[in-house]
Amino acid sequence: MCGIIGVVQKRGQVAPFLHQALKRLEYRGYDSVGVTTISNNELSMKKDKGKIEEVHVKLNLDDMPGNIGIGHTRWATHGIPSMYNSHPHFDCKNQIAVVHNGVIDNFLELRSELSSKGHEFSSETDTEVIPHMIEEGMAEGHSLVDALKEVTKRIEGTYAIVAMSTQESDKIVCTRDGNPLVIGRKEGASYVSSDIPAFLPMTDDMILLLDGEIAVLSAGGVEIRKLSDDSLVDRETIKISWTADQAEKGGFPHFMLKEIHEQPDAIRNTLRLRFDTIQKAAKMIQEARRVYFLAMGTSGHAALAGRHMFAALSGILPIFELASDFQDIVYGSLSEKDCIVAITQSGETTDTIVSAKYAKSFGTKVLAITNVVGSSITRIADYTVITQAGPEIGVAATKTFMVQLTVLAQIALAASEQTGFLAEYLIEKKRKCLQELPDLVSQVISRNEEIARRLAGELYKRSSLLFLGRGVSIATAEEGALKLKEIAYNHAEAYSAGESKHGPIALVEKGYPVVFVAPRDETRNRIIGNVMEMKARGASIISVLERGDQELGDLSDYSFVVPEGIEPEFSTMPYVVPLQLFSYYMARRKGFDPDKPRNLAKSVTVL
Ligand code: G6P
Repeated sequence: MCGIIGVVQKRGQVAPFLHQALKRLEYRGYDSVGVTTISNNELSMKKDKGKIEEVHVKLNLDDMPGNIGIGHTRWATHGIPSMYNSHPHFDCKNQIAVVHNGVIDNFLELRSELSSKGHEFSSETDTEVIPHMIEEGMAEGHSLVDALKEVTKRIEGTYAIVAMSTQESDKIVCTRDGNPLVIGRKEGASYVSSDIPAFLPMTDDMILLLDGEIAVLSAGGVEIRKLSDDSLVDRETIKISWTADQAEKGGFPHFMLKEIHEQPDAIRNTLRLRFDTIQKAAKMIQEARRVYFLAMGTSGHAALAGRHMFAALSGILPIFELASDFQDIVYGSLSEKDCIVAITQSGETTDTIVSAKYAKSFGTKVLAITNVVGSSITRIADYTVITQAGPEIGVAATKTFMVQLTVLAQIALAASEQTGFLAEYLIEKKRKCLQELPDLVSQVISRNEEIARRLAGELYKRSSLLFLGRGVSIATAEEGALKLKEIAYNHAEAYSAGESKHGPIALVEKGYPVVFVAPRDETRNRIIGNVMEMKARGASIISVLERGDQELGDLSDYSFVVPEGIEPEFSTMPYVVPLQLFSYYMARRKGFDPDKPRNLAKSVTVL
């Protein structure tokens, strides 16, 4: 939530880079945007409400002088989206500029204290107290970095803060507690950002900044210190394996469509993870007294499907809880014998981070599954498995969901070997199926994309849809409904087909669309029964079914077809793909931007 970028370089204008970097961060929030640069000891500022390109057309974000600057793309928390509430925020003399991601809980108290000292505020944001506090500190003789250190002693909440001042115009200072910031380095330039893709075209050398640390960036280097004792931190540079091209649309009209098409490669790369990594993760789960899967959003659906995989393949039934509700449900019943598996593609979702920290406080083991090296969850976890999706920019998760499922399937099979739950030949059969999945998913995309586009043309006026499944397909149905809700703004409700008779069926009238996720597994015959019930009430039936399933095909008004031969525990992977495509084309048919759904952000860093 909120994207931050800062750059200081030896020479050359930074504004065009800041503009492009903000576009790469736009998935983090897009209700307003702002950029500030320094040239000849003066600040230049451009900011306004709206998406980056709308603001650029009005203000020309590229036309700003200076070799140092900061920028921000906002997801509003305090104060409506408006020009005044857009970041950067400034001190009274327009000498200090600050961008911030997070929430300052005690800002009202700080604001009234500063107001009584004569500071004037021009926004409703919590952020604006920061430049005024730095102004106070610098007036008392502190350097910029020391003034920011003083600020961290007074503010409460979560934050990633980046600041600069005309009085020290060769540096950017930054600090974090609870919100992400990564540093990029190359000869003659330093970068700081909320996420790696922002500076990836310039450098693949990254340095982590941890909570409770403060960094000074100059064109010549980076100095990091601990806030607690001011000691210097010697942190190694990490080489990022992602390429800049991966963070571009590569000829596709939207990131989401590109990322749907990248799923076969994402699975393939994730299947190449070292076997000992997978085994170690399996051991943590298999040795635990109780296993909890914790996640939010799409990652929660991967957890739901993963729970089924574990039960069916290894005889272990993990407990799934939304990370946001975990503490309120377990009430301290954790112990060092338990294990939580935190599934989060970004590694930054606050609910998941907070739950992992809570579990750790009981000595509970934490296994993380994330797509981002060095993200917050990796620093809390006892052990981490990194999925190999590459950068995902579309707000609606697709390929990261696919790789989470791939990793969970691999770990479940390794756990099965350890528990002896399945015979060896069965494990081999299932492993072979996993190896075939990239090609299978590829076929699903090519066979169903046109059907999805046409179906969207037929159904785009429908406001409400029901998604039904049984067993592991409940997770698939949940994810299909979530995608549609997120980007096409339909009321889309997922239910267990078995439970559908206890309420949702009352919604059904002539033509009401009901989507059935119906692989040919042990639930299929019961699903046919549910299809009949819905048809009898006039529902329009849309099925995701196995090739050759004539009976179900005949009962359906529209069908998506998935090749046969998939092991039942892994069906979510191919069966969700038509639903991703359908949502994408529904959003487009309705005139919405699938990459930037309203009110959402890719990484939710508030509770
Ligand atoms: C947000 C995103 C979703 C994502 C969820 C969890 O809601 O819009 O796409 O699934 O956060 O994110 P995580 O990074 O923890 O997987």
